[in-house]
Amino acid sequence: MITIKSNREIELMKEACRVAAIAHKEIELNIKPGMTTYDLDILAENAIRKNGAIPAEKGYPSEVKGMPDYPASTCISINDEVIHGVPSKKRVIKDGDIVSVDLVALKNGFNGDMARTYLVGNVSKEAKRLVEVTKQAFFEGIKFAKKGNRIGDISHAIGEYVKSQGYSVLKEFQGHGIGREMHEDPGIPNYGKAGRGARLEPGMTLAIEPMVLAGSPEIWELEDGWTIATQDGQLSAHYENTILITEKEPNILTIL
Ligand code: MF3
Ligand code: CO
Repeated sequence: MITIKSNREIELMKEACRVAAIAHKEIELNIKPGMTTYDLDILAENAIRKNGAIPAEKGYPSEVKGMPDYPASTCISINDEVIHGVPSKKRVIKDGDIVSVDLVALKNGFNGDMARTYLVGNVSKEAKRLVEVTKQAFFEGIKFAKKGNRIGDISHAIGEYVKSQGYSVLKEFQGHGIGREMHEDPGIPNYGKAGRGARLEPGMTLAIEPMVLAGSPEIWELEDGWTIATQDGQLSAHYENTILITEKEPNILTIL
């Protein structure tokens, strides 16, 4: 079921999203070689809690039965890791890394979801282009995030743009509705046919999140039961905002 948020609920969504953006700002200002992904996780967690929210990823149940709940406040995925990298005191960020950070702030019962891929130090030209294309894919997608259009219009625009740039999208994971739950209907794949899927209506809040692979789209899951990495070892990037469908242009809630 797709939930349409009331004006009051939209205000609460905006506040949760604002906290997610503040946590990202903290990471953007502090990320540097020599830090561990655990250090970054703590920075984000402190920023989220200081602003009256809870890091909603912590304790998120695994999809695999019997596997532990998600243990950290953020997902941090470096280079060939695509998503759901688990922060660790042993994982040191190096010069030239591209570091994807995905976090969710839960405040007053509503979730704000946001991801960015950060360039650390001297990053290769190709890696920069991948990160730029991933960001642009989001903006290509939300050109269609308008009342009366369909989810498939967004998916199609993202997928075609990424393909046109010589990259592939992750097929096994997708964007999603968001609100009281981190993951609500509808699912929003990063590829698909235009004109298909649910119709967009004002008051829908959606997490649109291109996950882009420089090489082949094949992935595998690491032994930790969470981290998704490319099979070919090539780079991957992620760019996500929570948006609001309105009568006119979409409102990007996770950009301050
Ligand atoms: N924030 C992610 C998303 O974009 C979900 C992370 S999975 C979790 O949907 F287990 F870490 F919560
Ligand atoms: Co998301």
